[in-house]
Amino acid sequence: MTRFPINELRDIATPFYFYDLGLLDQTLAEVKRTSRDERFRVHYAIKANANPGILRRIQGAGLGVDAVSGGEIEAALEAGFPADKIVFAGVGKTDADIIVALQAEIGCFNVESEAELDVIDEIASAMGKKARVALRVNPNIDPHTHEYITTGLAENKFGINLPQLGGMIDRALDLPSIELIGLHFHIGSQITDFEPFIMLCQEINRIQTEIAARGVKISVINVGGGLGIDYADPDRHPIPDFEGYFKTFRNHLRLLPDQQVHFELGRSIVGQCGSLITRVIYVKEGTSKRFAIVDAGMTDLIRPALYHAHHKIENISDPHGDLHHYDVVGPVCESADIFGTDEMLPSIRRGDLLAIRSAGAYGEVMASQYNCRPLPSSYLHGK
Ligand code: LLP
Repeated sequence: MTRFPINELRDIATPFYFYDLGLLDQTLAEVKRTSRDERFRVHYAIKANANPGILRRIQGAGLGVDAVSGGEIEAALEAGFPADKIVFAGVGKTDADIIVALQAEIGCFNVESEAELDVIDEIASAMGKKARVALRVNPNIDPHTHEYITTGLAENKFGINLPQLGGMIDRALDLPSIELIGLHFHIGSQITDFEPFIMLCQEINRIQTEIAARGVKISVINVGGGLGIDYADPDRHPIPDFEGYFKTFRNHLRLLPDQQVHFELGRSIVGQCGSLITRVIYVKEGTSKRFAIVDAGMTDLIRPALYHAHHKIENISDPHGDLHHYDVVGPVCESADIFGTDEMLPSIRRGDLLAIRSAGAYGEVMASQYNCRPLPSSYLHGK
């Protein structure tokens, strides 16, 4: 459970991201404990949070990295992740990205189309390198999450559709600078029910049987990420159910001898350790509503505006005041710049600090400078 050291925070310029490193360490320890299996490798999806202080902590715990751009590969290398523990996904890898990855000799490219496979082969040949590749397959499973973060359905820009997989495998085996090592899957994000993961395992088992009949050796099965967190009650569930998650794959995935399973977890690792801290600029009395206008906006945390996500809000300056209803809104000139409507909060005054919880994943890293606003800073607690 995160406790906010209010005396330390009071004088820091707002808005900023507060990271509870103690909670991050506990989360990483739980990931390590529950994924202890010689066949399992966990790669942290760096897109969730690329704050250098956070990355160093995750690197220290021995995880690898799942990157989606040359910039993310560079950030991972800078934080000390070994290149062979970096995998590289993304539907639109540019030539420059591919060169960065080949130069660093990363562990694996997760390839999403035949056109991409050909370009990687061409660039690798010119550089005298061989690219290890996993083919990203679209397993056509609906994880029942927000449409913007669903990625495994058939009509999707991501991955290769099942009917095309056989042809892609033949192509990969043919190309001189490609070494086919695995299959990659990812069905979506913020998945809190294990059923879609069980369906994914069953689909992978079926695909594996089909491929085995062709005599192709696959040494890596990458099942992607997607484990969700409790946004409604972060203090009740500060650490996601990694035990149940890894057990699902242990129980339902039928591996062949010597096969490894790769996981790409983002949100579940960093989500609960981060909060956006913002100061109340004005309390505005409307006709039927009371607004708390805060100095953080959708530019600092876009999830509510983009996905209608709700993050728990707390008044950390005065947690015990009388409860009132507030709409908590940002200063950006967009009607979507709202963190919460009709929030029941202890009485808010100008200058109070509010914590917008569960913002460690897809928070700081998605910030923008719209309205010429500065990017939020960060404060790492428990260094
Ligand atoms: N692997 C692949 C191929 C992915 O596309 C993603 C996330 C992950 C792994 C990590 O997924 P996670 O474990 O974090 O669920 N900005 C959105 C989430 C976008 C997720 C994109 N892909 C949000 O704020 O909810």
